[in-house]
Amino acid sequence: MPVDGLRPLTALELEGRDIYVREGCYNCHSQMIRPFRDEVERYGHYSVAGESVWDHPFQWGSKRTGPDLARVGERYSDDWHYAHLMDPRAVVPESNMPAFPWLDENVLDGKLTAKKMEVFRDFGVPYTDEDIQGAQESVNGKTEMQALIAYLQQLGTHLK
Ligand code: HEC
Repeated sequence: MPVDGLRPLTALELEGRDIYVREGCYNCHSQMIRPFRDEVERYGHYSVAGESVWDHPFQWGSKRTGPDLARVGERYSDDWHYAHLMDPRAVVPESNMPAFPWLDENVLDGKLTAKKMEVFRDFGVPYTDEDIQGAQESVNGKTEMQALIAYLQQLGTHLK
C-alpha cells in the first residue's frame, strides 16, 4: 500500500531517476534507512515499504560508499546540488564522489517520457492521461542536471 501523501514522480523527476540509474549513483548510495537509532538520528525516519511501492526497480541498494539518500530531498538547495554534482570537492573538500559535469550540457527532448510513464502506469503508478499528455512539453529543453536535481529534491519527502 502506498503511504498517505505518496504521489507519482513528475515527468521531469522520472527522467532524473533514469539518469540516477544510468550514472550508477546506486553503486555508492543506498535509499533505505534502517530502523536503527544511529541511522534514524543521522538520516531521519526509517524507510517504509509504502514509500517505494511505485519505484520499479526500487533503489534501496546496500552499498554505502556515500551517505544514504532516502531522505535527502529538501535538505540542500538546488544550487548546492548543482555545485556538488559539477565538482563535489568544491563543496565537500574530502569527498571522493566523481563529478558529473556533462549532465549540465545534455539537453532532454522528452520524446520518450510519455512512453515511460505509460509503462509505469501499467505497473500500477496512477498517472492520469493529462500527466502523460503534458510529459514531453514539461521535459523538453531541460538539462539532465535539472532533471536529476528535481528527482533528488523529492526523495523521502512524501512520508507525513
Ligand atoms: C564512487 C562513489 C560515488 C558515486 C558513484 C556517487 N556518489 Fe554521491 N557521494 C559519494 C560520497 C563519498 C559522498 C560524501 C561526500 C560528499 O558529500 O561529496 C557523496 C555525497 C552525495 C550527496 C550528499 C548527501 C548528503 O546527505 O550530504 C548527494 C546528494 C549525492 N552524493 C548524490 C549522488 C548522485 C546523484 C550520484 C550519481 C549521479 C552520485 N552521488 C554518485 C560517493 C559517490
